[in-house]
Amino acid sequence: MVKSFKTFLKHTYKDFKTRSVNPPVVRTSTMVFKSMSDLRQVQKRNLRNPRGGHFEYGRQGTSTTFELEKILSNLEESYHTFLTPTGFGSIFLCLFSVLRPGDEIIIADPIYSPTRLLTENYLKEFNINTKFYDPNNLQTIKSNYSKNTKLIYVENPGSNTFEFQDLGKIISFAKKMKVVTAIDNTWGTPYFLKPIKIGFDFSIVSATKYYSGHSDVMGGSLAVSKKVFKKVIKAQNMTGLRLSPDDAYLIMRGIRTLDVRLDKHQQNANQIAKILSKKKYIEVLYPYKKNSKNYKLWKKYYSGSSGLMGIKIRAKNKKIVDKFVNSLKLFGHGYSWGGYESLAIHQEIKEQGNRKYLKLKKNEYIVRLHIGLEDPKDLINDIKNSLKLIK
Ligand SMILES: Cc1ncc(COP(=O)(O)O)c(C=O)c1O
Repeated sequence: MVKSFKTFLKHTYKDFKTRSVNPPVVRTSTMVFKSMSDLRQVQKRNLRNPRGGHFEYGRQGTSTTFELEKILSNLEESYHTFLTPTGFGSIFLCLFSVLRPGDEIIIADPIYSPTRLLTENYLKEFNINTKFYDPNNLQTIKSNYSKNTKLIYVENPGSNTFEFQDLGKIISFAKKMKVVTAIDNTWGTPYFLKPIKIGFDFSIVSATKYYSGHSDVMGGSLAVSKKVFKKVIKAQNMTGLRLSPDDAYLIMRGIRTLDVRLDKHQQNANQIAKILSKKKYIEVLYPYKKNSKNYKLWKKYYSGSSGLMGIKIRAKNKKIVDKFVNSLKLFGHGYSWGGYESLAIHQEIKEQGNRKYLKLKKNEYIVRLHIGLEDPKDLINDIKNSLKLIK
């Protein structure tokens, strides 16, 4: 009897027919049946149990995607998990499943900027209205609520600015108002936080990041509660948004070491946060010590923290901040994160959409660091050398 999830991740598959510890990559568009009655039986089974992996056509998935869905539903403790070709696809599928013209969505102000564009601009074209709430003042969820509110959408921690929110309070308000809730949980993954277990209806993870872990595949996962399952399967069938078997296989390969990698990302990130926090002109946006900002709210819900952090740098101008980022030798400069490697990017918050509640002074700049799996001593030396250049 396997008890720990760490053990489960290492024993996700065994096939004694092929003697393989890995599921085969089944790539097929046509699915063949011995007879029409065979085909009809599978169709019937699929209607009776749409979570059972009874496929009749490649667009619905194959046994490879079905294996990944099972692993993720186990990890999420969800009713079901849908797979999409990108993380952003999962965000779209979540919104498209529950929102209709005339509806409103209340969304966290520090949201991943493409999600902001999707809700604030694109959904507006479909007469769906977006209101933003302040992650540091959840009363703004109440004040934005109206009878048209259909979804409260959280991202925790906030994108680039790393605010942690009291998730339980959001869920209780939503339940009282009979509104469904979604969270982008890419930062923590269900290894550190299980959103469905604490009451969310949707848990979104960009599988491009820690699930795959090797910066070589894109994918998304949308875990759901029983309450919203039917809406999502309908929307998925109507949009054809599904992950390919090859990408599902790569994500499955990555996920076996999710716990080991995340534990190491966390260890490295904690060491680096401590070094950075020694500088008076730097505020570390990461829950690394008891009196650090948001530590209590992080600790209340999470069992660990990943490798992504922000640092707020006070500097005369943005050139100085760019100089710090550019002079890092072991940190690549580019988007995405969650792979084995360290990354650094100067995030110009003004370019992240018009944040309503963010209080950033003129001389404050945000750098996003992804702390990878390198030897932390090398990363620390690299950071120390670059810091020397700016002060
Ligand atoms: C928090 C968060 N959610 C969702 C996404 C979108 O994921 P993908 O790039 O897989 O579409 C990203 C991508 O950077 C992200 O950072």
